[in-house]
Amino acid sequence: MKKAIYAYTALLAVLLIFLNACRHEALFPVDGGGGGGTGGGGTVSGNPCSPDTAYFVNDVMPIIASNCAMSGCHDNVTHADGVRLTTYTQVMNYVIAGNAANSKLYKEIIKTGSERMPPAPMPALTTSQKTVIQKWINQGAKNNSCAGRCDTAVFTYSGAIKPLMDNKCTGCHNPSNLGGSVDVSTYNGVKTIAINGKLIGSITHQPGFSPMPKNAAKMSDCEITQVQKWIAAGTPNN
Ligand code: HEC
Repeated sequence: MKKAIYAYTALLAVLLIFLNACRHEALFPVDGGGGGGTGGGGTVSGNPCSPDTAYFVNDVMPIIASNCAMSGCHDNVTHADGVRLTTYTQVMNYVIAGNAANSKLYKEIIKTGSERMPPAPMPALTTSQKTVIQKWINQGAKNNSCAGRCDTAVFTYSGAIKPLMDNKCTGCHNPSNLGGSVDVSTYNGVKTIAINGKLIGSITHQPGFSPMPKNAAKMSDCEITQVQKWIAAGTPNN
């Protein structure tokens, strides 16, 4: 009888974990040692970015960190289905360099309906995000980086802030995955954290704020400048 009760309790625990998968409850210890890890991104190199190349650190890891490797999914704590996607080495377990079509990572993100990754109600990757991952794999899936394609003269919401959020933040901060009760999937959501100071506090890693993007490389100085300039301009929806 006792055994049966233990088995039942264990089953319940497992069920609970599955039910909470990919949600942002405090069920799991949040890993990443304060979130300052580089997420396998390594450091961004000083090489200028080629417009024809997709870079792991600049382009690919931010998408994976915020849409796949977040807490409750493919991080080191939860590793749903045994899959961990927090570093280059881990990501490469699902990639055949030079062959996106046969790479599990790519095959999962282009599935549709109930099969797709990330699963509903998480937003699907956008076409441009899928294309970047495909291109990076077909170009040899290197652990490469470049100085960044950022221009401090560009700081409109549509031209700089929204693309930054979509690539580095929205996967963990949307209505179905509200990390820290923060939603950056809409203009109003971004404006809210811009005005209350949390946006700058978190991306500049100020004490008292959770460093963001969580489990990924800190945003470049240029990207931070774009955000600062947009806020100084009054957070316009332009
Ligand atoms: C991998 C998931 C993940 C990514 C990517 C991520 N966040 Fe977060 N964020 C969280 C979680 C979870 C919290 C709740 C606090 C914590 O656990 O650190 C949070 C908290 C926050 C907070 C509240 C911080 C505070 O101290 O009150 C802000 C603001 C924020 N994130 C902004 C961002 C921005 C901007 C980006 C993109 C540059 C980003 N986040 C990327 C998961 C993430």
